[in-house]
Order: sequence, then structure tokens, then C-alpha cells
Amino acid sequence: MRILIATATRHGATREIGRWLGSTLLHRLSGIDSTTTVDVRDASDVDSIAEYDAAIIGSGVYMGRWLKDARSLIAREQAELETMPVWLFSSGPLDGSTPTGTRPKETKAHWAIEHRVFGGKLDHSRLSSFERAVVRLIKAGDGDSRSPADVARWAEDISGVLAEHAQRPVRVVRSRDHL
Ligand SMILES: Cc1cc2nc3c(=O)[nH]c(=O)nc-3n(C[C@H](O)[C@H](O)[C@H](O)COP(=O)(O)O)c2cc1C
Repeated sequence: MRILIATATRHGATREIGRWLGSTLLHRLSGIDSTTTVDVRDASDVDSIAEYDAAIIGSGVYMGRWLKDARSLIAREQAELETMPVWLFSSGPLDGSTPTGTRPKETKAHWAIEHRVFGGKLDHSRLSSFERAVVRLIKAGDGDSRSPADVARWAEDISGVLAEHAQRPVRVVRSRDHL
């Protein structure tokens, strides 16, 4: 089974979540199918998803939107994405809450199995002066609200679905409840 994890990131937080997901997925699935591969790539580096059996796409959230690289990937590959199991995730909220704006419209894709919102990470020393001005306005302080344990749990849920899919390819049931 070939799995793609594609992330769009400005400061690395979402890419790191992608790597955490990838390591749990590979660990879980290689025990079931030794040919499993998990590619963790920047969304901008993905030319085609035709070679994959499943995809997980994530983006950092900025002013209530996904980053352009993730939006473009979804727009360009939508027809292909509709034929495979797909999960979406965002990295955004900095205080454990889920404020308005953390469910960008791209993540309401009816063909995705689920959209999960993980916390975000903020480090003022890495921000541009414009970004610093924005976070000053919303009074966001430095911190890391991501939970590697939550990410690993989600990866285990995904592994369960994919393991079943690998053994007995069935039409994946998509739930709008999670979107
Ligand atoms: C300028 C700026 C705007 C942001 N806007 C939002 C937002 O609208 N909603 C949200 O949940 N998080 C927002 N965040 C928090 C980021 O989504 C969070 O820091 C995320 O982890 C960044 O991911 P990245 O490092 O992969 O780019 C914002 C952060 C910055 C610096």
C-alpha cells in the first residue's frame, strides 16, 4: 500500500505533524503489509497522486484559510482524490480552543473521510513583521498546542481503516459528521 502525507506549512509545525503521522502509520501498517510505503512530502512537491492508494493532506491555518499549496493540490487532484480514502487535517488553534476560522472551506470536502483540527505552534522569532503584527492584534503568545499523542491516536485510527481496506478493498464509508 502506498500512502501519501502532503503538508503545506509556513513555519514547519504542520510538516512535523505529517512526520509524526507518517511514523505511526508506517509502524502500524508495515506489520500487516510489508510493502507499505509512506511518503511525507511538502504539498508543493507533489506532482501527481495517481501512484498512491490513500492520502492525508494537511495545512497550517492562516487568517481562516489553508495555505495555497494545499488548496492548489486539492483543486488540481480532486478527481483522483475522490477515488481513494482521504483524510484532511489542519494545524491552527494556539490555545486548545477551536476558534472560528479553523475549518477552512477546503476541509469541508464531501469526499474526505474526516477533517481533524490539531493545535498550532507559534514562535515569534520565526514570523515575518506582517505576521507579528497580526498575532499582536489577536494577542497570541508563543507556544505549542500540538499533541503528539493525539496525532498518534489519529494515525492509529487511520491505520485501522487502511488495514481493513488492504485486506478487503471495500468502498470507504465517508461520514459528513466529522467535517
Ligand atoms: C499570521 C498568522 C495568522 C494565523 N491565523 C490563524 C487562524 O486564522 N486560525 C487558526 O486556528 N490559527 C491561526 N494561526 C496559527 C497557525 O495556524 C499555527 O501557528 C500553525 O501551527 C502554523 O503552522 P505552520 O508552522 O505549519 O505554518 C495563525 C498564525 C499566524 C502567524
